[in-house]
Amino acid sequence: MARVFSGIKPTGEMQLGNYVGAVRRWVAQQHAPDQVDAIYCVVDLHAMTVPYDPAELTGSTRRLATMLLAAGIDPDVSLLFVQSQVSQHAELCWILNNVATFGELRRMTQFKDKSVQHSGVTPESVTAGLFDYPVLMAADILLYDTEEVPIGDDQRQHLELSRDLAMRFNHRFGNTFVVPKGTFPTTGARIMDLQNPTSKMSKSADSPLGTILLLDDPAAITKKIKSAVTDSGSEVRYDPENKPGVSNLLEILAAVTDQTIPTVEAEFSGSGYGAFKAAVAEAVVESLRPVQKRYETLAADPVEVERILANGAQRAEALAAVVMQRVRRAVGLLPRPL
Ligand code: TRP
Repeated sequence: MARVFSGIKPTGEMQLGNYVGAVRRWVAQQHAPDQVDAIYCVVDLHAMTVPYDPAELTGSTRRLATMLLAAGIDPDVSLLFVQSQVSQHAELCWILNNVATFGELRRMTQFKDKSVQHSGVTPESVTAGLFDYPVLMAADILLYDTEEVPIGDDQRQHLELSRDLAMRFNHRFGNTFVVPKGTFPTTGARIMDLQNPTSKMSKSADSPLGTILLLDDPAAITKKIKSAVTDSGSEVRYDPENKPGVSNLLEILAAVTDQTIPTVEAEFSGSGYGAFKAAVAEAVVESLRPVQKRYETLAADPVEVERILANGAQRAEALAAVVMQRVRRAVGLLPRPL
């Protein structure tokens, strides 16, 4: 079975874009014939690279882990853990810091974007952590002999860097790391902002109306979908170029009902926008209902969630320890005493 690793950042609340684009696929894969040996990590250390509130980070980390379980990540099939609870991530990051170069990190487009975008942050005051973000991500991946990394399109450059670091390390210190491969989902991958359908749905969007949160109640979901930006004309047709708003709603409907876009497009081809939006809203509400219910049950038992995460961290630690002994030997560090 292929070893698969993916990370998800605990910033804000989980939203429909993450769920449809990534998490639902992870869940489905657990019991599919093409089952993989999957590790999913809540990457709290990555969430510290931009200004944040400590209490909020604690809450977001707990809620995201709880939500992943509610969404159907089965801790008996997949390995689920919180990054900072396995100390080898930070440790391997430090070692890889001496393989990564200033020049290549400076060229990371996400670093360039984030180091200008944040309010009150000047290029001089950007943290070393933000600069180093992709090296920590490489550590996450390489620590588990990962073969495949399912990841969004916006992470291509970071994944490429992980591969480069693995190959450079292997060349310099002897074969140590598996060189990972990125897998980029094609359909249902890009749920766009409802208010601004040419940019990805994200929790940091300008208007909260543009983003459906997984814990939104039915009234909120319906309101957001009904006020979604649609396009001129009145035809329900899939045409992302000329009708990004309607196409996004078709994309959402297809994803949450497990149908293809042509199927849902045909179903609503004669409808007006109003009836179409009502149907999309209902489909989203229905598909989130069981997830929300499981979330409530789990959130009411934080001790159980903690137990699951502790168990995940322990299993991850055992895998990471094996790779770290190999790394330490390769780079000339004394073995870690047992
Ligand atoms: N950078 C990723 C993102 O923003 C999150 C991430 C951190 C990750 N470490 C990872 C994804 C390792 C895959 C593998 O989405």
